[in-house]
Parts: sequence; C-alpha cells; structure tokens
Amino acid sequence: MKKILLPVIFILLVVFTLSFAQERGVKKKRPLPQDYGKIVLNNFSEKNRVAPVVFDHWLHRSKFTCRLCHTDLGFEMKTGATGIKADDNINGYYCGTCHNGKRVFDNKAVFRACDKGKRDEVCDRCHSFGKDVKRENNFSEFAAKMPKERLGNGIDWELAEKDNLIKLIDFLEGISVSKKTMPVQKDFTLEPKVAGLPEIVFSHQKHTVWNGCEVCHPDIFTGVKKGATKYSMIEIFDGKFCGVCHGKVAFPTMDCQRCHVKPVS
Ligand code: HEC
Ligand code: HEC
Ligand code: HEC
Ligand code: HEC
Ligand code: HEC
Ligand code: HEC
Repeated sequence: MKKILLPVIFILLVVFTLSFAQERGVKKKRPLPQDYGKIVLNNFSEKNRVAPVVFDHWLHRSKFTCRLCHTDLGFEMKTGATGIKADDNINGYYCGTCHNGKRVFDNKAVFRACDKGKRDEVCDRCHSFGKDVKRENNFSEFAAKMPKERLGNGIDWELAEKDNLIKLIDFLEGISVSKKTMPVQKDFTLEPKVAGLPEIVFSHQKHTVWNGCEVCHPDIFTGVKKGATKYSMIEIFDGKFCGVCHGKVAFPTMDCQRCHVKPVS
C-alpha cells in the first residue's frame, strides 16, 4: 500500500508546487538558450547617454569560475547591486580587471572597457543593448561542441567541466590571493519537509569546482551545519538559497529531477 501511495503523493505535490509557482509568476516565457544568464546593466549608462551594457554569463562562465568573479573581483550576485562605474573599469576594477587591453587569455589581449575621452566601436561591444552589435563569440558554434541538457543554456555545464571540454580559470595574477584550499566537505542528502518526497542530493564536491566555499558560506547558507538553515521550495522558486543561482545562471528550478533524485547507495 505504502509503495503505491508515495509516488501518488509526489505527483500531487509536483502539480501543487508547479501551479503555485505559476501563480507567483515564476513561469515566465522561457529565454532562448543563449539568453539564459544574460544581464543588462543600466545604473548609469542611459543617464550618461550610452547604451546599457549587456553581459553574457554563458561566455564568461565557459572560461572562468563563478568564484573568481563573485568572490575575488567582488561582483554581487544580483543585477545592478555592484554599482559598477566607468571610472572603476578605467582604474582596473570589475570588468576593467580583465578588459584593460592588456590582460591575455587564449593568446589574445582582451579589449579594453570604458574610456574618458574617446567613444569608438569598442564601446559598442559592451554598451550594446538595443543596438545591432555582432557578437564575436558565437553561442551556437560553442554549444554545438558541448554536452546537451534540456533547459537553461541547453548545456550540461557540469559534464563539460568534468570532461575537460572547458578549462576554468580560478586565479588571476596580481588579483587573487593564493591561499590554502579548504578540504572539500562530504556530499549529503537533504530531506524535504514533506514525507515521501525523494531526497535531494547535494554535492559539495561538484559545487566547489565552480563556487569555492565563500560564494555560499556564509552569505547564502549561514549555517555550516547540515539542517541549520531552514528553507522551502517556495523560497527557492523565489530566488533564495539554491534559487540564488538555480533559475538565473545555473540550471533552472523547472528541472525538478536534477535535484530531486534518489541517492545511489
Ligand atoms: C566574468 C565574471 C563573472 C563570472 C565568471 C560569473 N559571473 Fe555571475 N555575475 C557577474 C556580474 C558582473 C553580475 C552582475 C553584478 C551586478 O550587476 O552588480 C553577475 C550576476 C550574477 C547573478 C545575478 C543575476 C540576476 O538575475 O540578478 C547570479 C545568480 C550569478 N551572477 C551567478 C553566477 C554563477 C552561478 C556563476 C558561475 C556558473 C557566475 N555567476 C559566473 C559576473 C560573473
Ligand atoms: C575575469 C575576466 C573578465 C571579466 C571580469 C569580464 N570579462 Fe568580459 N570577456 C573576458 C574574455 C576573456 C572575453 C573573450 C575575449 C574576446 O571576445 O575578445 C570576454 C568577452 C566579453 C564580451 C564580448 C562578447 C562578444 O562575443 O563580442 C563582452 C560584451 C564582455 N566580455 C563584457 C563584459 C562586461 C560587461 C564585464 C563586466 C560586467 C566583463 N565582460 C567582465 C573576460 C572577462
Ligand atoms: C568591457 C565592457 C565595457 C566596455 C568595452 C565599455 N564599457 Fe562603459 N561601462 C561598462 C559597465 C559595466 C558600466 C556600468 C553600466 C551601468 O550600470 O549603467 C559602464 C558605464 C559607462 C558609462 C556610464 C557613466 C559612469 O560613470 O559609469 C559611460 C559614460 C561609459 N561606460 C563609457 C564608455 C565608453 C566611452 C566606452 C568606449 C571607449 C566604454 N564605456 C566601453 C562596461 C564597458
Ligand atoms: C553551492 C553552495 C555551497 C558551496 C559552494 C559550499 N557549501 Fe557547504 N553547505 C552548503 C549547504 C546547502 C549546506 C547545508 C546547510 C544546511 O542545510 O543548513 C552546507 C553545509 C556545510 C557544512 C556542514 C556539513 C554537515 O554535515 O553538517 C560544512 C562544514 C560546509 N558546508 C563547509 C563547506 C566548505 C569548506 C566549502 C568549500 C570547500 C563549502 N561548504 C562549499 C552549500 C555550499
Ligand atoms: C552559488 C550558486 C549555487 C547555489 C547557491 C547552489 N548551486 Fe547547485 N549548482 C551551481 C552551479 C554553477 C552548478 C553547475 C551546473 C550548472 O550551472 O547548470 C550546480 C549544479 C548542481 C547540481 C548538478 C550536479 C550534477 O550532479 O550534475 C545539483 C543537483 C545542484 N546544483 C543542486 C543544488 C541544491 C540542492 C542547492 C541548494 C541546497 C544548490 N544547488 C545551490 C550553483 C549553485
Ligand atoms: C536546485 C535544486 C532544486 C530543484 C531544481 C527543485 N527543488 Fe524542490 N527542493 C529542493 C530542496 C533543497 C528542498 C528542501 C527544502 C527543505 O525542506 O529543507 C526542496 C523541497 C521540495 C518540496 C518539499 C516542500 C518544501 O517546500 O520543502 C517539494 C514539494 C518540491 N521541492 C518540489 C519541487 C518541484 C515540483 C520542482 C520542479 C518544478 C523542484 N522541487 C525543483 C531543491 C530543488
């Protein structure tokens, strides 16, 4: 009897949660794969008569870890929250850490960011919102070489990293401080509050490659004791806890079964 009931309860819960999510407007029009993780920055641009800035996560995360940008370079994980200014970039902070016309990746110096005096076509590469600027890095060409996933960018980033199809830079000379790496914590399962729901496997091992420790502790998960932070699926849909990343840059929350899996014992 119990064996039949559990799956039924799970399906009911899924339907309930999905309709709840829809009601809260979580189920927006799904972005195109290349637009997943795209952000537009406009704290100061239009006010200063330049087009807003478009930043693609897919391109940058194919080269760098989340940790490098969100810890070492100090970018907030919330659009607009950092308040990047042209002067910061000119002085070698934020985008200007790499985009200074000097720093070399893949044997190529990266084009420079903002400039006080002149305005030229280089400006358009970032200040591109609403303009017809041709991207030099082509998403389709890149994605064709990557393992596939259903949602988000349509790319299985986890597998791409594991199979060495992308090599992530986690350290910038002169910026990152080299420190002893902390021992990676054990993987564990989280038990949902509702009985009978499949457990959630959380892999420290897999997350640490991208995020180090500091991206999650203590800002997103204060408790470094399993079970210390209490959260629900509704809060995750709302962009808190796991939802800080999942649904915006990491695979979306609509991919239920990637988190709600049975653990392999
Ligand atoms: C090259 C730097 C860079 C890398 C690499 C990077 N990010 Fe970001 N990320 C940014 C910037 C810049 C912003 C916007 C910050 C602001 O506007 O204040 C941002 C914003 C975000 C946001 C908020 C998005 C929103 O809709 O508000 C999330 C979530 C995020 N990043 C997660 C990640 C994750 C997860 C990774 C790794 C898979 C990652 N980022 C890799 C630079 C980066
Ligand atoms: C950690 C280094 C790093 C940081 C920080 C960084 N970028 Fe980049 N960015 C790169 C590299 C490397 C490339 C690829 C080089 C190229 O296309 O010439 C790139 C390419 C780009 C492109 C080119 C897109 C195309 O295909 O034409 C844009 C636009 C861009 N970055 C915007 C930004 C913005 C905006 C910021 C800050 C919010 C930023 N980047 C921060 C390293 C970085
Ligand atoms: C690598 C990306 C990048 C490039 C290239 C770039 N900018 Fe910016 N710029 C930014 C970002 C990010 C901001 C902050 C956007 C915002 O929130 O409005 C910004 C803001 C500005 C602002 C707003 C005023 C201020 O004080 O912040 C001006 C003006 C500006 N840039 C001028 C330029 C000019 C001129 C060029 C070309 C010489 C240029 N930028 C090239 C990334 C770039
Ligand atoms: C993607 C986010 C994320 C990253 C990255 C991360 N953690 Fe965690 N960590 C968690 C979550 C979620 C929990 C469980 C917290 C809870 O349930 O309240 C946790 C729990 C822990 C615990 C308690 C484990 C237990 O069994 O009680 C320790 C210790 C810990 N983390 C250390 C680390 C260290 C060290 C790193 C870097 C090597 C790291 N974490 C990276 C999300 C993360
Ligand atoms: C700081 C950002 C961040 C937070 C917070 C976060 N994740 Fe992730 N997670 C990632 C990134 C980046 C990946 C790599 C895959 C991708 O980007 O789609 C990932 C991958 C995963 C995977 C796939 C691993 C595999 O086996 O392929 C699972 C499952 C997962 N996360 C569950 C969780 C759960 C559960 C939580 C909350 C307890 C959580 N994540 C919190 C960033 C985050
Ligand atoms: C990024 C990982 C992740 C994804 C994707 C995800 N969940 Fe969850 N879910 C969690 C975590 C973590 C919890 C446990 C929260 C707790 O109880 O501590 C949870 C709990 C739940 C619960 C138990 C009730 C509650 O609020 O705690 C339900 C029901 C649920 N999820 C349904 C879904 C459905 C339906 C989807 C797909 C639309 C989904 N989840 C996608 C991570 C995820």
